[in-house]
Amino acid sequence: MDVHAPPPPEDPGLVVRDLAVNYGPVTALRGISLSVPRGSIVAVLGGNGAGKSTLLRAVSGTLRFHRGGITAGEIVFGRTRLSGAAASAVVARGVVQVPEGRRVFARMTVEENLRAGALGARDRRAAAGARERVHTLFPVLAERARQRAGLLSGGEQQMLAIGRALMARPAMLLLDEPTLGLAPMMAARIAETVREINAQGTTVLLVEQNAAMALSLASQAYVLEVGEVVLSGPAADLARSDEVRRRYLGIEDDRATSPAGASAGRPALTRWSA
Ligand SMILES: Nc1ncnc2c1ncn2[C@@H]1O[C@H](COP(=O)(O)OP(=O)(O)OP(=O)(O)O)[C@@H](O)[C@H]1O
Ligand SMILES: [Mg+2]
Repeated sequence: MDVHAPPPPEDPGLVVRDLAVNYGPVTALRGISLSVPRGSIVAVLGGNGAGKSTLLRAVSGTLRFHRGGITAGEIVFGRTRLSGAAASAVVARGVVQVPEGRRVFARMTVEENLRAGALGARDRRAAAGARERVHTLFPVLAERARQRAGLLSGGEQQMLAIGRALMARPAMLLLDEPTLGLAPMMAARIAETVREINAQGTTVLLVEQNAAMALSLASQAYVLEVGEVVLSGPAADLARSDEVRRRYLGIEDDRATSPAGASAGRPALTRWSA
């Protein structure tokens, strides 16, 4: 599939409009609007508690398992409304989440974990094709097929969690901090694989605290703070913005504090709130 082809006008990918989410009396997201065009990688950055996982749960229909709910706005994928749909219906529409903390079934084998991801796939040939794709992306999962998943390293468990999601042959993957807690080399491998999965035609919404990695993969990015989008724009522009460099990339540079140089050559980003 040519991922560089512009999406057909009738299919804008994932569109979130003015979304608000509550957990009981607690408001976790408000006024969230974002879009993930078909074939793209879009990143959502933000610190602990910003609402990143909540956003993915809203898309995947899993909020109710966390005693949360959408209180305003809507989520549309292609021409299908996802907000209000059951989690199984969202998966059936091709949108699959890899949850935070690489939750694999530790007592089941690697192979059984992958098979669990293909549940509901009636087409056996398609399931075999999906498994082949996963084994090509992650050869270690073929080598360890009969081993218990709990014995894999953290990085390998993340590969299995992504592999399991791919078994459902998703049109879109929702990735929740796939590199969290991994050594830099393993994180780089996961990042490379996300790029490859996308190049094969899968749209990706990537939630990360690792801003440098996420911005290097994504075309567009959004920054969440306390449940609101505070900054958004092309990922390359965000990577160059003083604020993102200081707050999310840990880079202090002279120009960031010098009024004369602060705005020179700096990208203009869309800002919703101060
Ligand atoms: N099940 C829940 N019940 C009540 N409040 C919750 C629940 N889950 C999350 N929250 C609250 O919602 C807000 C957003 O949390 P969320 O987990 O979405 O943040 P996050 O950006 O994913 O953070 P992290 O990087 O730590 O994973 C936080 O204030 C959090 O305390
Ligand atoms: Mg989270």
